[in-house]
Amino acid sequence: MKVLVTGSSGLIGSEAVAHFDREGHQVFGADNNMRREFFGPAGDTLWNLERLKQSTRRFTHLTLDIRDREKVLDLFKREKFDLIIHCAAQPSHDKAKDIPFVDFDVNAVGTLNLLEATRQANPEAVFIFMSTNKVYGDAPNEVPLKELPTRWDYSRPEDYHGIREDCRIDRTLHSLFGASKTAADVVAQEYGRYFGLKVGVFRGGCLTGEHHSAVQLHGFLSYLFKVARSGETYTIIGYKGKQVRDQIHSTDVIAAFTEFTKNPRPGEVYNLGGGRGNSASILECIAKIEALLGKKIATRYLDQNRVGDHICYISDLSKLKAHFPNWQITVSLDRILEKMAQAPM
Ligand SMILES: NC(=O)c1ccc[n+]([C@@H]2O[C@H](COP(=O)([O-])OP(=O)(O)OC[C@H]3O[C@@H](n4cnc5c(N)ncnc54)[C@H](O)[C@@H]3O)[C@@H](O)[C@H]2O)c1
Repeated sequence: MKVLVTGSSGLIGSEAVAHFDREGHQVFGADNNMRREFFGPAGDTLWNLERLKQSTRRFTHLTLDIRDREKVLDLFKREKFDLIIHCAAQPSHDKAKDIPFVDFDVNAVGTLNLLEATRQANPEAVFIFMSTNKVYGDAPNEVPLKELPTRWDYSRPEDYHGIREDCRIDRTLHSLFGASKTAADVVAQEYGRYFGLKVGVFRGGCLTGEHHSAVQLHGFLSYLFKVARSGETYTIIGYKGKQVRDQIHSTDVIAAFTEFTKNPRPGEVYNLGGGRGNSASILECIAKIEALLGKKIATRYLDQNRVGDHICYISDLSKLKAHFPNWQITVSLDRILEKMAQAPM
C-alpha cells in the first residue's frame, strides 16, 4: 500500500510510520513540526523524525502543513494513497484558548482539507481520523462517582466498563480544543456516511508511549515520567489528584487502525483508550513511577481544577472489540511505564 501519515513526527504518527514501513508499505509522512510552535523547544519533534529516518526503509518525509489546501490536493492527486492516517493536530485542551484561530484551522479545517482531497483524488482509500474523548466535553462527569482512597470511580455497576460512543457530544463544555476536534469528528463521519468513503473515527483516551515530545500541556504520562527523572516538581491540578485516565500504548492504537483498514466500516466511531485494565489516577501513576524509579516525585497541588477536565474517564472498548475481535490491549500500564523507564532521556 501507499500510506500517508499526517503528524508523522508525533507520538501516534511516528508509530504508524514505523509500523507500516516494517510491514513493507511505502509510507509518506507529513509534519511541519508545528508542535514546537505550540509548546516551545520541549515540543520539538525533529529528534523523532531523525529516529524514523534512521530506522525505516521506504519512508518519505514531507514538511507539509495540512492547512495548505492546494498543496494537500496536489499531493493526493500525485501519489494516490491507499491509506491515510490523520494524526496531525493542535492537541492541547488548555492551549487552544490562546490560539483559537490556529487551533480551529489545524484541527477542523486541516481535517476537512484532507477529507476533501481524499474524496476528489483517492476515493477508494481508507481514512483514519484520530479524534479525542474531549468530543464528549464534560458530559462524562455526569456519571455518578464514588471517591476511593486514591481515585474517583464510577459508583454504578453498569458504568464499570466506562464511557460508550453514545455519550452525547453537544450541550456540554468542551474547551475550544474539544470543539475544533468535534467539528472534525462530525465532518469525518459525514465523509463516511454521506459520501461513503471508508472513514473511521477513533476517539482517543490517554495515548502514550516513549516517543512523545512531552510537555506540561500535552502528553500526561510521559511528561510525568520526564519530570520524575529530571527531579523537577510536578503540579497536580485539582480533583485531589484522583482524576482517572485510561492509558493506551501507541502500538495498541496502531493495531486498532490496522484492523479497521482490513475491514473498514464507513463513518463508524470508536472509543480507543486503555480501558478499565489500564486506568489509573494521577496519584496512582505517581506511586507506580516512584516504585519503578525508586525515588520520590516532588509535587505541588493546585486546588482549582482545569476547566472541563474529566474526573474519571475510562473508554468502554466493547464496540471496538465487537467489530474487531482480533484487537485487544497488549501493553499493560506497568509495561508502558517500564518501556518509558528503558527509553533514553
Ligand atoms: N496524546 C493523547 O493523549 C491524545 C488523546 C486523544 C486524542 N489524541 C489525538 O491523537 C492525535 C495524535 O496525537 P499525538 O499525541 O501523537 O500528538 P503529537 O503532538 O505528538 O503529534 C501531532 C503532530 O502533528 C504535527 N502537526 C501539527 N500541526 C500540523 C500541521 N498544520 N501540519 C502538519 N503537521 C502538523 C505536529 O508537529 C506533531 O508532530 C491528535 O489528533 C490528537 O488530538 C491524542
